[in-house]
Amino acid sequence: MNADDLRGPALQVLSDNRRSGVGLAGQPVSFSWPSPATYPFQWFWDSCFHAIALAHLHPEWAIEELEALAASQQPDGFIPHVTFHGGARMSYWAFVQGRGFRPRRSAMIQPPVFGYAVCRVGELLDDDALVERLLPAVDAYHDWLFRERDHDGDGLISIITPYESGMDHKPAYDAALGSRSGQARTLTPRLRRLDIDNKRRGFSLAENVRRGRFHAEDVIVNTFLGLSLEAAAEAHQRLGQAEAATKARDRAERLLGALLKKSWDPEAGLFWELYGAEEQALKTATISGLTPLALGLPREVVERLVDTLTNPGRFWPAYPCPSVALDEPAFDAGSPYSVRSPLIWRGGTWVNTNWLLHLGLRRHGYHDIADELCRRTQDLIRQSGFREFFNPFTGKGYGASSFGWSTLVVDMAANSR
Ligand code: GLC
Repeated sequence: MNADDLRGPALQVLSDNRRSGVGLAGQPVSFSWPSPATYPFQWFWDSCFHAIALAHLHPEWAIEELEALAASQQPDGFIPHVTFHGGARMSYWAFVQGRGFRPRRSAMIQPPVFGYAVCRVGELLDDDALVERLLPAVDAYHDWLFRERDHDGDGLISIITPYESGMDHKPAYDAALGSRSGQARTLTPRLRRLDIDNKRRGFSLAENVRRGRFHAEDVIVNTFLGLSLEAAAEAHQRLGQAEAATKARDRAERLLGALLKKSWDPEAGLFWELYGAEEQALKTATISGLTPLALGLPREVVERLVDTLTNPGRFWPAYPCPSVALDEPAFDAGSPYSVRSPLIWRGGTWVNTNWLLHLGLRRHGYHDIADELCRRTQDLIRQSGFREFFNPFTGKGYGASSFGWSTLVVDMAANSR
């Protein structure tokens, strides 16, 4: 699908947002901020998405973006959701979401896209040496996730704050946080309290399980881990590293099996986030519940998911796919982000989730729907620019401008017929 007119502007965004910093070993690194005016610093899943887009636009920068992530990996394998590169100032992300007084990095995770990004960039650049160089970082990261975040050993990992889902205020967690109304008035203070509590307890899943505090097996987080494990398994196989390939493949299969067994609801046609030690299904229909479409699901599950996705009353308005189903009470088409309207991921359309669903539609052979989703995503950008998210009825752009991961539209187009 032709998106040549978007390539120049996309590269301009990532170039305007480009900054430099210092890796853990003191090495110079380069990467793009998500948005100069709104989101400074290097963010984990944003960087992965930037790298994938840059593989089409500026290969050298794509490699540098991935290397910058690897350079922020801690000796135990952890990779932070934000790395401040010396410029933390007194931001909330540093002060509350990192350890100590003036942290160099946050102590939280984001959806684990890293393994997939490394392999996708390697494939686009036909650069197996790059993949071989970065796979050890990917494997160490996955080891960390399973060691620290799979308390019940079921193959699904847990988050300890909704922010770790990457979908900050997704309404599935309103009730778990104790906010029945889902209004910023009650939600924001509760999220702050949870963050402060996590900081005091060392950002530890084990602590949250022990004390019955927030922990959830989040669907989009586990989908990205599944994709990354699959990609790593394939890469190891290709490179003749059979043992590592088997380990990653076994983990991917267990993860998918657990998702199907515990989180899939055939009647609803969606996967649910699983909350707390009881793994309570949180039955709020958000786009997170559609994302396992990107994995190797059985045919009947795929068909149900595609029905849900293309239902005009749920996830298929003029500008699909809204982050919350249109028929959910919590659905909000969005408004310009402001002090009075500070909540996000409550109904707006985002490019990174469209990109992920597009991947799934292609994987399972739904090329016409995938093309349509790609076309409408391109229309959003042509109409409103590289904004953070969009009104699903009008296409109006909201949130941050010059937003890095909206350039993923370039990968969607390249991955179309
Ligand atoms: C918002 C998003 C988060 C993203 C960050 C930087 O907080 O919810 O997922 O990583 O912005 O773009």
